[in-house]
This record gives sequence, structure tokens and C-alpha cells, in this order.
Amino acid sequence: MGTRNYNIAVIPGDGTGPEVIAQGIKVLKAAGDLYGMAFHFTEFDFGGERYLRTGETLPDTAIEELKGFQAIYLGAIGHPGVKPGILEKGILLKLRFALDQYINLRPVILYPGVDTPLKDKRPEDIDFLVVRENTEGLYAGAGGVLRKGTPDEVAVQESINTRKGVERCIRFAFDSCRRRNKRRKLTLCGKTNVLTFAFDLWERTFHEVAKEYPDIQTDYAHVDAICMWMVKNPEWFDVIVTDNMFGDIITDLGAMIQGGMGIAAGGNINPGGVSMFEPIGGSAPKYTGKNVINPLAAIAAGQMMVDNLGEEKAARAIEIGIKEIVTRLKSLAAGRMGYTTAEVGDLVVSALPRP
Ligand code: IPM
Ligand code: MN
Repeated sequence: MGTRNYNIAVIPGDGTGPEVIAQGIKVLKAAGDLYGMAFHFTEFDFGGERYLRTGETLPDTAIEELKGFQAIYLGAIGHPGVKPGILEKGILLKLRFALDQYINLRPVILYPGVDTPLKDKRPEDIDFLVVRENTEGLYAGAGGVLRKGTPDEVAVQESINTRKGVERCIRFAFDSCRRRNKRRKLTLCGKTNVLTFAFDLWERTFHEVAKEYPDIQTDYAHVDAICMWMVKNPEWFDVIVTDNMFGDIITDLGAMIQGGMGIAAGGNINPGGVSMFEPIGGSAPKYTGKNVINPLAAIAAGQMMVDNLGEEKAARAIEIGIKEIVTRLKSLAAGRMGYTTAEVGDLVVSALPRP
């Protein structure tokens, strides 16, 4: 079989983003050598430094250019010298929206040998997938402010939920649940008792689409209860589908029960377009340049990317590499791994199984 070529856009971004992405690239190249993939990486310097230098976040021409790649590999966006919101909205959310990456896929997996803060929970108890809607809801930017700075100030931030947006997200979640083939249970996470407009649309759509998936058990829980069950009985979950804001919140909780941000990865997916893969932990500015940050989340994001490109064997190999190495780290936390960032990358490379 010939070598398969992949053109990947890389946005290392801010803080520790470049350090972890370098290790991810190292692992991807090594997996490529073993499994017949040639990656061609093109780097883009979008992020806080560029913004401070040029005043530019993400030019529109960049969106068009990025559409020419098979995937985007992103480090982190967020800079202590830039007012909150500018880079997040101007780069990260702009990419998600402009590339119509309507799913944010976030696995929550406790690997064997990793500590969870949940007493008595084992890897078989914590293995679920959150399907977060990624282009609508409170993130849509609808609303506005009146009489700003006066005692009569009014601020409105609306949650936008379209039938099309909700339905495609729910469908993706049912399909993912079927493909995982684990507990075959999909839980809708909402707030139908208070958000009676938005989550009525979600709930009706959920039950309608469910008719096409008689093999999948359906379940519903309010978001506050989900937070409770994720801590008390995470083994109840297989796939959870939810809106943008709730998905943002519950996946940070998910990251903690799986052992921390050092291992949490996600994919911003457009099934018919260009998807983007990232560690979900952020730029961690205080660890920048110290070679102490954990690159496993970035490596796991690379694994998701390879899987999404249809390279299932290579994805499985990277997963095996991560599982093998994670048990050797003293802790997943930055500075306490017992290894440097680059050493962890090397260890994963050396643990990749041969085909
Ligand atoms: C995430 C992040 C982003 C989000 C921020 C940085 C805009 O928290 O990817 O979860 O809220 O989606
Ligand atoms: Mn978040």
C-alpha cells in the first residue's frame, strides 16, 4: 500500500501551546512512518503575540486558506497580555463558526494507572463521550448592551437554538453512540424545567430523531443533575449530547474526573469540511517555555485527528502509546510528571506498537 498524504494546518498558538504541539507532531510523524502516512504541516502564527504585534486576530483570507487543509491542529489560544474575549472570539470561536465545526467532541476516559479524584472509581467506570454543540447557543454572540456604564445599563445575551443546528448535533450523537457500541445509551443534558423554549426544541428533536435509532437507549437529565451524577455515578454515561454552554462546563468537570487537563483532548468537527483538534486545557502561561507541561492531551488530540482522517489503526497505536506511558508518569500535572514535556513525547513514540 502506498503512503497516504495529509496536509495539516498547525496553529501552535499561545503559552504552552507550541511546546505541546511539537510533541504531538513528533508522535504523528512517528506514527506516520509506521503506518504509511506522510504529514505535511504548515504553520500559522495566529495568537496573542501576533495580535499584540499587528492588531490582527484572524484575517478572513486565513479562513479561506485553512479550508484547503485536511485538518487543523491547534495548541492553545489565550494570552495574559490581551483582554479576555479578543483572542477567544477573534480566533478560536471564529474558526469554529467560520469552518462550521458544529460538533465539539470530548471523550472522558480514565486511563488505567491514572488517579481520579473520585473515590473508588476505576477505568471501567469512567468512559464516556460528550457531544457538545459548537456553533450556536449562548456562544452565537446574539444580544447587546444599552446605556453602558450608567445605572440603567441593560445587557442581553441570548441563546440561539435552530432546528437545523440542534438536529444535526443530535444526529451526530446518535451515530457516535452506535459506532462506539458500548452501553448504547444517549443522554440529553438540558434544563427543560427552566429553559422551556430552547430545551423544548432540543427535547422534541431528540425524541423524533431517536425513532430512527431503536437500538440506542435514550435518557434525559438536567445539567445540574448531570454534574452530580458525573461525580457520583459516572458509569451511568455512554454518550451525552448537550448545547454549547452546558457542554463547555461539563467537559471541564469531565477533564477533572479523568485525571486532569493534562490528558483531556477534543475535536471541533465538521463532518463534511475541515475539523480542528486541540488539547482543551488552555495556554497555561505560567508554565510557558519550562518544558514541564504535559503534552499527552495534545498527543491525544493528534490521535483524534488521525482517527477522523480515517486512519483507525494509527489512531489505535497512538492510544496504546498514551496508555502505556501514562502509567509511568508520577502525576499528570505540569511540573510533577517526573519527566519533561519532550521526554513524554519521546516515550510515547517509543511505545507505539508496530503494525
Ligand atoms: C473551550 C474553551 C473555550 C470555550 C473558550 C476559550 C472560548 O473554554 O474550548 O472549552 O468556551 O469554548
Ligand atoms: Mn471550556
